[in-house]
Amino acid sequence: MEAITTIEDIRDKVASLKKGGKTVAFVPTMGALHEGHFSLFRLAKQHADEVVASIYVNPEQFGPDEDFDEYPRQLEADLKVCAEEGIAAVFAPSDKIMYPSKQYLHIEVDELNMHMDGGSRPGFFEGILLIVNKLFNIIEPDFAVFGQKDIQQFRILQQMVSEFNHNIELVMGSIKRANDGLALSSRNAYLDEEQRKRAPGLYRCLQYVQKQIGNGVTDVHLLLDHQRSELQAKGFKIDYLKLFSFDTMVPVNEVKNSSKYILAGAVYLGDTRLIDNLIVERP
Ligand code: PAF
Repeated sequence: MEAITTIEDIRDKVASLKKGGKTVAFVPTMGALHEGHFSLFRLAKQHADEVVASIYVNPEQFGPDEDFDEYPRQLEADLKVCAEEGIAAVFAPSDKIMYPSKQYLHIEVDELNMHMDGGSRPGFFEGILLIVNKLFNIIEPDFAVFGQKDIQQFRILQQMVSEFNHNIELVMGSIKRANDGLALSSRNAYLDEEQRKRAPGLYRCLQYVQKQIGNGVTDVHLLLDHQRSELQAKGFKIDYLKLFSFDTMVPVNEVKNSSKYILAGAVYLGDTRLIDNLIVERP
């Protein structure tokens, strides 16, 4: 399978896929594909006749001290698995194609961006909105599939689709995990053997808090404080470990009935940043 690298060619390809009223689902990725991505491809296939993927490491969503240069790139291997997964076309453009000249326009995000990854990674979601907006306008899919692991990304993109009237239905794929519970991520490749063994500690901690909430705990302030200390004692550096409102992405200390929350954490093991989350709903 060959990557399609120009906007004209991918537009032509998608137009041919859509002939006869066929639907297209789109899975944007940054490559280094793993089981987590494959599950998104399969979910996409359940929603549409054809699946189109993109592979592009978007420089605009990396801060100056982040891992843009080190981010794993393995286009040949990725194309091979895309072919095996029955992906109809892969768009893998260069920076020159996606950002041919100075980018004068940016999309700002209000409150939804203030906490979680938005709070810790300035410019991250503006960079994602920029690239996904471009990709949506190029591919014009019927569906677009994103993983729950990046739940704030999903929530902000939901808002973009709604406020900018993209005629696209967003679909969220559940988090895929290794046998020991670690959420699959291309960045797990940075972990050494010893860090890899400790890494599922974040998921176990989220599960514990979720269970406590299920058992009727409503004030999570002390519970989360305690869990942060436990993680620190196990060698994790905490970025955040909090309960957030699903709608506003703002941290909350009190769980109310009939509300939807995200219990989310971001931690470092060495230089590697791990994120994970669970959706908590109180009927
Ligand atoms: O989730 C990702 O891999 C990226 O943020 C995305 C959506 C491909 C945009 O670069």
